[in-house]
Amino acid sequence: MIDEHLVEREQRALMSNYKRQPVQFVRGEGAGLFDADGRRYIDCVAGISTMNVGHSHPAVVAAIQEQAARLIHVSNLYYTEPMIALAEWIRDRSMGGRVFFCNSGTEAVEAALKLCRKHAGHDRPEVVALVDSFHGRTYGALTLTGQPGKQDAFRPLLPGVVHVDRQDLEGLQAAIGPQTAAVFMEVVQGESGVHPTPPEMLRLARELCDRHGALLVFDEIQTGLARTGPLFAYQGVGVEPDVMTLAKSLGGGMPIGAITARPGIDATFQPGDHGSTFAAGPLACAAGLAATGVLDDPALQAHVREEGAWFLGALQTLVDDGLATEARGRGLMCGLDLPRANAGELVSAMLDRGILVNATGPRTIRFLPPLVVGRPDLETVLTALRETLPALTA
Ligand SMILES: Cc1ncc(COP(=O)(O)O)c(C=O)c1O
Repeated sequence: MIDEHLVEREQRALMSNYKRQPVQFVRGEGAGLFDADGRRYIDCVAGISTMNVGHSHPAVVAAIQEQAARLIHVSNLYYTEPMIALAEWIRDRSMGGRVFFCNSGTEAVEAALKLCRKHAGHDRPEVVALVDSFHGRTYGALTLTGQPGKQDAFRPLLPGVVHVDRQDLEGLQAAIGPQTAAVFMEVVQGESGVHPTPPEMLRLARELCDRHGALLVFDEIQTGLARTGPLFAYQGVGVEPDVMTLAKSLGGGMPIGAITARPGIDATFQPGDHGSTFAAGPLACAAGLAATGVLDDPALQAHVREEGAWFLGALQTLVDDGLATEARGRGLMCGLDLPRANAGELVSAMLDRGILVNATGPRTIRFLPPLVVGRPDLETVLTALRETLPALTA
């Protein structure tokens, strides 16, 4: 699956902050990735929910080729059209407010945090986030990320961030007050193993933010862009945020992030407040326009709902048969808890069978296939789980 020399070169050339699987990919198509020997792998990771449209989608490839041949980058000192068209797309399909572009998820969270802090002024020093959340790795986003294991080596973090358990309605009530600038939540916590935030928690956050004048921010970096069925996960639960962060699948595989804020709040940033050299570049935005064009299809969103429901039901049969302890999911975002802390072994066993899955913790497997995945691939994944799990459960 992988050339020994490549592993050795990687170790000598790259810092060791990633633990890679022993496979090298050279090509992708739809829900499949191919290694150098031409072996096809069913991709249930999708670049960590970046390839919602599928690998090398022809519309995205054509948009990148066409845009790259004309104009790659000029900076935000000048006008270009793709950024405006992509911002219009986001505005018109979400809260109706304007957009700020950046280059990644963590940058989108930083931008949202700065926007909320500026909007709040200096008298509201606190920000509320959830335990087990994931918002990124830069300092502000890392502080919001409610996982001490990811934070401890990098303390001191940003002051004023308070974490509440995602089930703790009373805790949320106690945490939000006139001192609160913003509340950050994922509609479904992805990185911690696909844990939906209870709708009553989202509703209470909305109510408390309205009461105390704080901003509600939904981090839709993983849940957005049809991953859970609707274009944005908040549309499936009926609670609208004031600010939303996006990244991952927004660029069809090109690096891009964005925030949007509802009208009024979207006037918070003024020239000089925030920016980024690469942000809103025509190449990433052209790719984003092509990708969002694909994701904007009700038939694709129905496919996500149907296949997601089928796959979650199939995972549940593993729980019923004692091979797993819990299955969770929304659309094509699913998590499976194992009876033993050997998720890494399952990832390896599935890789041997030509299937990519990802462990979010010692007991939890996450499934994030490209949204174009077909039923035959999902059936193959289920069969492989059914055949692999007994040895790991005993
Ligand atoms: C909900 C959420 N927010 C933020 C991020 C950070 O995004 P990035 O890795 O692009 O910085 C992620 C990445 O997994 C995420 O899932």
